[in-house]
Amino acid sequence: MSKIKRLDISFVRNIQSALIEPSATVNILHGENGSGKTSVLESIYLLGTGRSFRSGKLDPLITHDYDEAIVFAELFNGPSIGLSKSRRKAHKLRYASETQKNWDNVARELPVQILDSNSFLLLEGGPKPRRRFLDWGVFHVEHSFVDSWRRSRKSIANRNMLLKQRQVDHSQLKAWDVELCLAASEMDVARKSYFEEFLPLFINVYKSLDPSNADLLDVAYERGWDSQQELSDVLIENRTIDIRYGATQSGPHRADISLKVGKSKAVEILSRGQQKLLVSALKIAQGRLLSKSLGRECIYLVDDLPAELDRDNRAAVFNQLLSIGGQMFVTCVDLPAIVECLSSPPAMAMFHVERGTITA
Ligand SMILES: Nc1ncnc2c1ncn2[C@@H]1O[C@H](COP(=O)(O)OP(=O)(O)OP(=O)(O)O)[C@@H](O)[C@H]1O
Ligand SMILES: [Mg+2]
Repeated sequence: MSKIKRLDISFVRNIQSALIEPSATVNILHGENGSGKTSVLESIYLLGTGRSFRSGKLDPLITHDYDEAIVFAELFNGPSIGLSKSRRKAHKLRYASETQKNWDNVARELPVQILDSNSFLLLEGGPKPRRRFLDWGVFHVEHSFVDSWRRSRKSIANRNMLLKQRQVDHSQLKAWDVELCLAASEMDVARKSYFEEFLPLFINVYKSLDPSNADLLDVAYERGWDSQQELSDVLIENRTIDIRYGATQSGPHRADISLKVGKSKAVEILSRGQQKLLVSALKIAQGRLLSKSLGRECIYLVDDLPAELDRDNRAAVFNQLLSIGGQMFVTCVDLPAIVECLSSPPAMAMFHVERGTITA
């Protein structure tokens, strides 16, 4: 059970100190613009992933004039996770009283899904957010995936270094090609099998949220190199191009999920509200698959649920999220915008956020 029983936040954005005891189900954070609602979600996300969903850099997240942000969570099933992120020193991450050298264990213990305005990047951005989305799921269900992923990154980095040299060392390049092809094949098998499980769950959720577009949507996994060719052949064929660009053009680092309505990209056809339904369905389906495969729920961080959605769609998304049975942290400016859309409100904990102070 990945649920937070106690959350202690110090020096994250405008939150200098906050201690909350969330409900194991739904937690609503409401308050004015700039009060600190998203910062609570950011604190949980930081703890679970080591990253911010708002920016690539972590320093802006530490309260001005302070040196260190600290987030601590005690989980319902026992263990605690603590993180201190300092401006000057390396971060410190502890899980179940042990110092962690990376986020592998913590991410498995605390799988977090974020649904916010950046989630639209799944549709409007380049392949990176979609690949990250896919890999989030594969990481959780296939433990060996992270090793293949790291080996492929290393091979590509070394390969790219060789490609940039004035006199390309072809024998070294060949050696890295072999390593890359091995890792790529493992990644492709894992991604493909994850995607095959994910797809029917996703279609099911999407049909319930936006039936007319669900009938038109075409979703496909693209592995990052020609589907008819071995990667080893593609690398040989592309060598001149790779040397010209000084970078590997095909491989698992180019994998993507294509989302099309008819012949066009979904983002070019769907309205903003419809796009939110689609990205919500993608994220909800991942949560469902995690429950199905591992019997555990992810924590959903939903920033400004009412934004872009009319009353019925708000209720539909909320009900889908509820049906997963995990812990949710949902922010909104106006409480009625959430409460009113629910015909039978579930038991919820409400927190009012005001100038960085949180009250139950
Ligand atoms: N490093 C920082 N130190 C102190 N305050 C910060 C820092 N970074 C951001 N802030 C402030 O923290 C506040 C919290 O922002 P947050 O995004 O959490 O608000 P919010 O309640 O989600 O607002 P909205 O409803 O507009 O989304 C903002 O007023 C912002 O200006
Ligand atoms: Mg916000």
